[in-house]
Amino acid sequence: MAMYIVLVGPPGAGKGTQAQIVSETLCIPHISSGVIFRENLDNQTELGKLARSFLEHGELVPDDLTIAMIRERLSRPDCKDGALLDGFPRTTDQAEALAVIMNELYDRQVDAVPFIHVHVNALIERMTGRLTCKAGGHVFHEKHNPPKLAGICDYDGSELYQREDDKEETVRHRIHVYFDQTAPLIEYYKDAGKLIEIDGNKSIEEVSADILSALNIGV
Ligand code: AP5
Ligand code: MG
Repeated sequence: MAMYIVLVGPPGAGKGTQAQIVSETLCIPHISSGVIFRENLDNQTELGKLARSFLEHGELVPDDLTIAMIRERLSRPDCKDGALLDGFPRTTDQAEALAVIMNELYDRQVDAVPFIHVHVNALIERMTGRLTCKAGGHVFHEKHNPPKLAGICDYDGSELYQREDDKEETVRHRIHVYFDQTAPLIEYYKDAGKLIEIDGNKSIEEVSADILSALNIGV
């Protein structure tokens, strides 16, 4: 059965980590707005040039650019049987745009919105210790989820690096931006009856099991 899922939560909550696991289990594409922006930055595309300063400063990229990028990605054939969105939507305007896109492309709405919540102090520790893969955006942590070989991605063998926006000062600003601009999404999806609250303070494996069981997927 096709399933469209939106993962929400503050920066560093584990959206990317859980999206890797859940999308693989459900055999649906993992669409991370942050990963797509970083690919565009690396490839120096027009979109990358427009988005660069927003990412570097931990600000949200303007809605028009972000929405157009996600519309294009969701319209590709691999999304016809479902998709897992990670990091989009991030404002209620983006959520309303997603409802229109889903209606136009697939004549339906998203099925479920797991909301991963984590204590603020843990978020900072998670982001400042994060290692990210250059090729596919896979994520590891120097303590909580180290790669099998130091500095090398388990999934595709590419080099791991520290994200430019994972410096403590930028991390703190991103958390502020989240509470200011993204937190209202929680009420939006609660009112729509789609929100599933997930305690993200547990281990990576426990959080995955909780998400899959809340989606009624046995593993
Ligand atoms: P984006 O890349 O989406 O960053 P983010 O939302 O700030 O989220 P993160 O990727 O930092 O955290 P995550 O929740 O994915 O955590 P992860 O799994 O890596 O966005 C970056 C930028 O792009 C934004 O600032 C903005 O400029 C722009 N952008 C993106 N989307 C946009 C949009 N829709 N609109 C406008 N602008 C947009 O985990 C973090 C670390 O913790 C890892 O090291 C991991 O190994 C570890 N970890 C994970 N789970 C656990 C656990 N349970 N226990 C212990 N450690 C754990
Ligand atoms: Mg992420």
